Amino acid sequence: MKFPTTRMRRLRKNFQVRKILQETNLNPEDLIYPLYIKEELTDGQKEHIDTMPGQYRYSLNEALKEAKRLEEIGLSSVLLFGLPAIKDETGSSAYDSEGIIQKAIGRLKEETDLVVITDVCMCQYTSHGHCGIIEDEEILNDETINYLSKIALSHAEAGADIVAPSDMMDGRVEAIRKTLDNNGFYDTMIMSYSAKYASSFYAPFRDAVCSAPSFGDRKTHQMNPANINEAIREVEQDIMEGSDIVMIKPALPYLDVIKEVKDRFKIPTAAYQVSGEYSMLKAGIESGYLTEESIYESLISIKRAGADLIISHFTPKLLEEGTEFKC
Ligand code: PBG
Ligand code: ZN
Repeated sequence: MKFPTTRMRRLRKNFQVRKILQETNLNPEDLIYPLYIKEELTDGQKEHIDTMPGQYRYSLNEALKEAKRLEEIGLSSVLLFGLPAIKDETGSSAYDSEGIIQKAIGRLKEETDLVVITDVCMCQYTSHGHCGIIEDEEILNDETINYLSKIALSHAEAGADIVAPSDMMDGRVEAIRKTLDNNGFYDTMIMSYSAKYASSFYAPFRDAVCSAPSFGDRKTHQMNPANINEAIREVEQDIMEGSDIVMIKPALPYLDVIKEVKDRFKIPTAAYQVSGEYSMLKAGIESGYLTEESIYESLISIKRAGADLIISHFTPKLLEEGTEFKC
């Protein structure tokens, strides 16, 4: 490249030129919308999530209404989170065939064509708020994966297309795959939260679904934010155990991890723009320090890094206003 023969600014001359040369595009089908469904809410009710302005906990019927509205404007898939009426030591409402998520899956599959993905974990369902079975303040790995398998199976039985274990226990993908296969659910996919970091950006979510641990933290199972080699090993392990789609979470602070995983494994890769990323941008925009363009820039950057799918709370906004990046 020799100046002045090469003038890079030619490539950015005007909008039309920039558009045809744009390397990355965000499409409606790249987006997955997280839906929070609260068992105790009745018809017509929804609760605003104060730590995530513009997001709600829905009753089952309201969640269905919202899902249908979004499907009409281009939504392809949802990720379901349940807020059960009852919590106990072993999170038994998580695998109840009459549980809130199991009901929601059934209704969504009956009444929409959405791809239904379910979060598989115990923390919203346990009285202590931990992602597993506890003994002497320790999370028991092997005990927990049996429960996770039961939860995943109950979601598959209810009709889920994809189960998404978010617990970070060792061996859970293999355990879930075996359980699904033994019960004939060969076609139920697994999207594992493979490189899930112990991140402070989950704070608004834990408030939204009341899942903050009552003691201790999640650092013995979620990853150290300082590590990437370990993330590669986690992803490799999940692929060997049978993951169909791997996920990196959070997204924006971990673009290097997304890129490395996609480049190395060439497997469908999802990135989770988590609650804190959403609330941070919202707060910036609402205070006037940022503009809404920062939303588009973050999402196109996550896509550029290598994500095929992005779980984002901005999904409704993007579907309403268009996913096109204004270059
Ligand atoms: C629970 C779970 C978490 C999220 C999804 N499933 C967070 C946690 O570990 O407490 C985070 C979602 C978000 O912050 O948007 N295993
Ligand atoms: Zn959990």
